[in-house]
Parts: sequence; C-alpha cells; structure tokens
Amino acid sequence: GEPVEIDISSIEPGGVIIVTWRGKPYFVRRLTEDEIAAAGELGEGDMKDWQPADERIDSVEGADDAGWIVVSANCTHLGCIPKTVENAPEGWACPCHGSVFDMTGRILRGPAAINLPRPPHVFANETTLIIG
Ligand code: FES
Repeated sequence: GEPVEIDISSIEPGGVIIVTWRGKPYFVRRLTEDEIAAAGELGEGDMKDWQPADERIDSVEGADDAGWIVVSANCTHLGCIPKTVENAPEGWACPCHGSVFDMTGRILRGPAAINLPRPPHVFANETTLIIG
C-alpha cells in the first residue's frame, strides 16, 4: 500500500475525479461555495450516520479553495460506484439500489447505512494530494 500522489491543479470548482489507491477507487471532489453552504445546512435529523460537514471537508492551506472532499467511491451498501450528481445538497446517487449521498459523502437516504469513508490523506501543497 504505497501512498499515491495526485495532481489536483486541473480540477475546477465543482469538478470531481476518481483515483485508485490500494486497488480501490476514491472520489476527489472540489466543492463550490454554494455546495459547501448546502452541506452545512443539513442537520442531524437529515441523516442516519450523522457527522458535521466541516469534519469531512478539507481546506488547503495557502489556497483560496472553498474545500475538498476525499471519500471512497464504493457505495457503503454493496460496493457499486455512485454517479456524481450536481443537485446540492445531493452529491452522489448509487445506480444499483438508490442510495443518495450528500456533497460530502454522507448518506441521505436509501439502503446504505453509513457515510462514504475517508481514506488517510494529506494535501502536501496547493496542487498535490497524497492518499495513503
Ligand atoms: Fe449502492 Fe446498493 S450498492 S445502493
């Protein structure tokens, strides 16, 4: 399990890529200000695996980015790859059985019971993310 280094310099606000670490896919998503605001408006009553949005959003020191999301791209129900949607606060919808996750990967509804997990990661600088 070597760490992977990812160049994030070409990801625009609202953009998302899938990267692989240890043979598994992960989403790296750059949120817009509006998407962060929408995530922040969700409360404990809106989800079954409550976690505050700000505990799942990374900001990069020295950059003017609103925030980044780094989460598993395997649905926590049975492992399908959720489709990215831009319908804040909804951020991903799983094509297999309909689980819907918010912009930070928190489960909103559907059969998945837990949020998309966050892998160990660090932003080495404004353009480099390291997972692992
Ligand atoms: Fe995603 Fe079942 S695998 S909802």
